[in-house]
Amino acid sequence: MYQNMIQMKSPFVYGKVASESSFTDREKDCASLVQDFINLTNTIIISPRRWGKSSLVRRAGEEASQKDKHLRVCHLDIFNVRNEDEFYEKLAKTIIQGTSSPFEDFFSTALKYAASLVPTISAGDMVNTIKLEFKVKDFHRNADDILDMAEKIAEEKNLHIVVCIDEFQQIANFSDPLAFQAKLRSHWQLHSRVAYCLYGSRRHMMIEVFSNKERPFYQFGKTIFLKKIDARLWPAFIADKFKGTQKSITQEQCERIVELTDNNPYYIQRLSEEVWNITDDTCHDNYIQEAFETIVQEQADLNLSLTQTLTITQQNLLNAIAHGEKELSSASVIAKYDLKSNVAVQRAKSVLIKMDIIDNFEKRITIEDPIYAYWLREIYFYA
Ligand SMILES: Nc1ncnc2c1ncn2[C@@H]1O[C@H](COP(=O)(O)OP(=O)(O)OP(=O)(O)O)[C@@H](O)[C@H]1O
Ligand SMILES: [Mg+2]
Repeated sequence: MYQNMIQMKSPFVYGKVASESSFTDREKDCASLVQDFINLTNTIIISPRRWGKSSLVRRAGEEASQKDKHLRVCHLDIFNVRNEDEFYEKLAKTIIQGTSSPFEDFFSTALKYAASLVPTISAGDMVNTIKLEFKVKDFHRNADDILDMAEKIAEEKNLHIVVCIDEFQQIANFSDPLAFQAKLRSHWQLHSRVAYCLYGSRRHMMIEVFSNKERPFYQFGKTIFLKKIDARLWPAFIADKFKGTQKSITQEQCERIVELTDNNPYYIQRLSEEVWNITDDTCHDNYIQEAFETIVQEQADLNLSLTQTLTITQQNLLNAIAHGEKELSSASVIAKYDLKSNVAVQRAKSVLIKMDIIDNFEKRITIEDPIYAYWLREIYFYA
C-alpha cells in the first residue's frame, strides 16, 4: 500500500495559506470581506487557530483587486516583528511594493513619501531578480510620515488601498504597547482612502486589543468572528482530490476524517494527506484510524511539553473538558476530576483561555486543538 508514496505530489495543503484549488467554501465570508475591502471598511478577523483567517484574507484580497482596478491590497505578516522600528520598516516596504508597479517607481516612491527611508538594492536569490530593502532612519521622528504614507500614495495615484496585517496581536508585545496603539489609531482613523484588515492567531490577545473599552483600538472596525467551514462540504472536497490523483475514498470515510478532526480545516487537510499517502488506489476503513494515530504520535512530544507547563488543576480541568463534561463547576465534576473548588475551576479556566488552549467560542468550552484533546483523553489520562 505504500507504493505510490513518492510518485505523486499530495493534492492537500496544510500549514500554508490555502489558495486556488486547495481553498474551499467560505463563499459568503469571502464575498462579504471583498465588499468590505471595496467599501474601505476597517475589519478585524477573530477565530481560533487554524480555521482559515490568513487563507480567507488572501483570497478576498485577490478577488477585491480583480473587481476594483483602483484597489491595491497589501499584505504584511508581523509574526517576527519585535519592535516599532521593525514595524515601520515592514509597513513601508509592503505599501511601497504593493502600490508601485513599474520597478523604476520604487525608489522615487520611497524617497517622495518618507524621507527617512533609505532604499537599498541587491541581487536576489534567483537570476534576474532584485531584492529591495529599506532601512528607516530616525524612525521615531519619522513615524508620522510612514503611518500616513498609504493615504498620501492613495491620493496622489488615485488609488484605494487595503493594508492587511497578519498576527497583529504581536504589537501588544512591543514596549509601551498602549502608546503605540494610540499612535497607530490616531493616524489610521483619519485615512479616507485606506482601510485596514487586522487579524491574528492569538484569539485571546486579539480580543484584548479590540474589545476592551480602555484600549485605543476599541471599536476600530467591523469585527468578524469567523466560523468553521460547513462540515457537509468537506467530503466532496476530499473525494475530489483523491479522484484527481486516481485514488478513491468513500463518502463515509471522508465523513470519518471530518469527525475525527472535529471539522478543523487544518487537521482535515493534514489527515486527508496522511490517508492519501498510505492509499495505493482504494482507501480502506482502517487506513483512517491508522493515519490519525500517526498524526497523534507526531504531535505527542509537543503536547507533552505543553501539558508539563500546566498545573495539576489545569491539567485536570482539560481532562474533564476532553471527556465532554459541560458543567465544569458542578460538585460531581469537581469531585470526579479532582478540581478542588469552583474558585480553582474558574482560575484554571481563565488561564487556559488566556493561553488559547481552550475556547469559549459560541458559549461552548472546547479544547482548541482536536488532536490535543484526543491525546489527553486517550493517551495522557488513559488509565
Ligand atoms: N478555505 C479553506 N479551504 C481549504 N482548506 C483551508 C481553508 N482555510 C484553511 N484551510 C486549511 O487550514 C490551514 C490553516 O489555514 P490558515 O493558515 O489560513 O488559518 P489561520 O486561521 O490563519 O491559522 P492561524 O490561526 O494559525 O494563523 C490551511 O493550511 C489549510 O490546510
Ligand atoms: Mg494565520
